[in-house]
Amino acid sequence: MLEEAIIVKELEDTFRKLFGRPASQVFFAPGRVNLIGEHIDYNGGHVFPCALTLGTYAAVRRREDRELCLYSRDQKEAGVLKVSLDDLVYSEKDGWANYVKGVVWAYEKAGFVLPSGFDFVCGGTIPRQSGLSSSASLEIVIGAALAGLYGFSVDPVRNAKLGQEAENRFVGMNCGIMDQFACAMGKKEHAIFLDTSKLDYQYVPVRFPEEELVIINSNKPHQLTDSAYNERRNQCGRALEEIRGFWREIPSLCALTPEMFEAAAGKMTDAVCRRRARHAVYENARTVKACEVLAAGDLAAFGRLMNESHRSLKEDFEVSCGELDFLAEEAAGFPGVVGARMTGGGFGGCTVNIVKKEAVSGFAEEIVKRYRAKTGYEPSVYRADIGDGPRRIKGD
Ligand code: GLA
Repeated sequence: MLEEAIIVKELEDTFRKLFGRPASQVFFAPGRVNLIGEHIDYNGGHVFPCALTLGTYAAVRRREDRELCLYSRDQKEAGVLKVSLDDLVYSEKDGWANYVKGVVWAYEKAGFVLPSGFDFVCGGTIPRQSGLSSSASLEIVIGAALAGLYGFSVDPVRNAKLGQEAENRFVGMNCGIMDQFACAMGKKEHAIFLDTSKLDYQYVPVRFPEEELVIINSNKPHQLTDSAYNERRNQCGRALEEIRGFWREIPSLCALTPEMFEAAAGKMTDAVCRRRARHAVYENARTVKACEVLAAGDLAAFGRLMNESHRSLKEDFEVSCGELDFLAEEAAGFPGVVGARMTGGGFGGCTVNIVKKEAVSGFAEEIVKRYRAKTGYEPSVYRADIGDGPRRIKGD
């Protein structure tokens, strides 16, 4: 929490310097790590993410005019971006500020009227492009700030849906609901077992007796992530169309059991779509199983499912990369590592590992050494703390 106090002070000081008066409120929203259930939130599947104590902070204050004045401590070079509430359109050159514009746009479209603009300074502790949902965290903190500034009454699930709407329809990233849901609904020391077809969810305690969650950032810069992501989503759509020739009423890929999929698979003409569908169907089954074995205290089985998930993301869904494969595969063979997989959208970013407490420091040291030697990138290792959803830190 010391880090939090430092960041909040820094944001408040910056706010005063830039806008000549203090922020009226300060908010926080977390990032997330997904334990298992990857690339199936847009296929009606089950996912198992948890919110982190890492996240995004925002200091805000209402203005009298219709301007939004936006500044990010993490992208100082962009300076203060000024946008009118009457001109909320996506613009490449506005970079990160498109998320603010997009969330405001989504809220207004949903009927929430902003009578005036606001000043906004944000900064975060989630490494950029790490696959730990810095964008969803930003969207959720903006939603929380809008509720605080204008008295909107918005429950967390609605905030999550409006964040997703901003990302899908304004920014153009066709993501599912997992990230926004996890950031908006996070609960300390719990993962969220979420059925994305109905948005039914259950909190599952994640307090390992003798293990820890370790996140390793490959620090490999993502490339073409959004276009490759949208392409995967389209391929899943095409796979569903083909499968509907066989199972007519099926609402989504994850509504298929593995047996149903196998019955249809041989008739699919497109091999790429078949592999994408196979990942979705089996990843969903793995996630349901993972939740069961965790509840039964069988962490070894949970770890094996994580390893299988990675293999499927690498081979069938093809969203991993050499760096993530190296990190996950080296980890899986390391004494004391229970399970390891890439987490998030892929093509770079992080792996999530469950590691015996006594093995953590040896593992971290060794994997850093091996990864550096193999790839030339310097990885970062974090011990993940599972935290709560958004909150107001200051103001009334
Ligand atoms: C990104 C998206 C999510 C989800 C994951 C993969 O993080 O934002 O909706 O699809 O990738 O599981």
